[in-house]
Amino acid sequence: MIHYKTPAEVELMRQSALLVSKTLTEVAKILKPGITTLSLDEFIGAYIRDNKAVPSFLNYRGYPYNSCISVNDVVVHGFPTKNELKEGDIVSIDVGVFKNGYHGDHAYTFALGNIPEEIIQLIRVTKESLYKGIEKAVAGNRVGDISFAIQEHTEKKYGYGVVRELVGHGLGKSMHEEPQVPNYGRRGSGAKMKEGLVLAIEPMINLGVKDVYTEDDGWTIRTKDHKPSVHFEHDVHVQKNAPDILSDYSIIEAAEKANANLFSEYNAIAIHQK
Ligand code: MF3
Ligand code: CO
Repeated sequence: MIHYKTPAEVELMRQSALLVSKTLTEVAKILKPGITTLSLDEFIGAYIRDNKAVPSFLNYRGYPYNSCISVNDVVVHGFPTKNELKEGDIVSIDVGVFKNGYHGDHAYTFALGNIPEEIIQLIRVTKESLYKGIEKAVAGNRVGDISFAIQEHTEKKYGYGVVRELVGHGLGKSMHEEPQVPNYGRRGSGAKMKEGLVLAIEPMINLGVKDVYTEDDGWTIRTKDHKPSVHFEHDVHVQKNAPDILSDYSIIEAAEKANANLFSEYNAIAIHQK
């Protein structure tokens, strides 16, 4: 069953989504080679609690950390570790918070230092595909319109692998609500969207093949060919005329640009968020 939110609920959800954005902004300020992803996870947990919220991921189906930190060929659900990040790594940081009864859940992929042109393009195109999907998240359209837009821009146009096993989702009092939002599919298929629907739209796009596998820890998802994968996620409120993006990349991108340890040239290229 789909849970449509009232305007008052949407405002609470905006607060939850923005707390995730602020958390990712603080992470963007301290990211650098040599830092461990476990220390980032501890920082994330403390920041969320300082803001009178609870990390949504911790203990979710037994998940043992505050955040998911997925490096290079890890697609999503990476465990934070004592390994140090190094120049050339790309790192997807996925954060969820529960506050005032509602979840925020979104993610951003950062690049440390200089990375090859083909990975810069993968990051840029994955972010573009997120906005192309979001454009379709208006009342009267179908969920498949979002899926199709993402797949067209990534798989059809660039030949990237679109992960099939993991999908976006409805968001609200639960972290995963109906409907599922695949990053592949047919235009005009799936549920018709109505005002008040809130979706977490999250393309997971591989440089190489679409195939992935789960590690023995039961969580870590890796690309089968060990080529890198990129993940961006926004929380989006469906309205009549235009989508309402509840999360905010502008503060993350400002911190990213100000941090000389992060590659951010692609920010200048194609940001559709106003
Ligand atoms: N953004 C991810 C999702 O929507 C985060 C959930 S992972 C878990 O599924 F750690 F919470 F399990
Ligand atoms: Co999600």
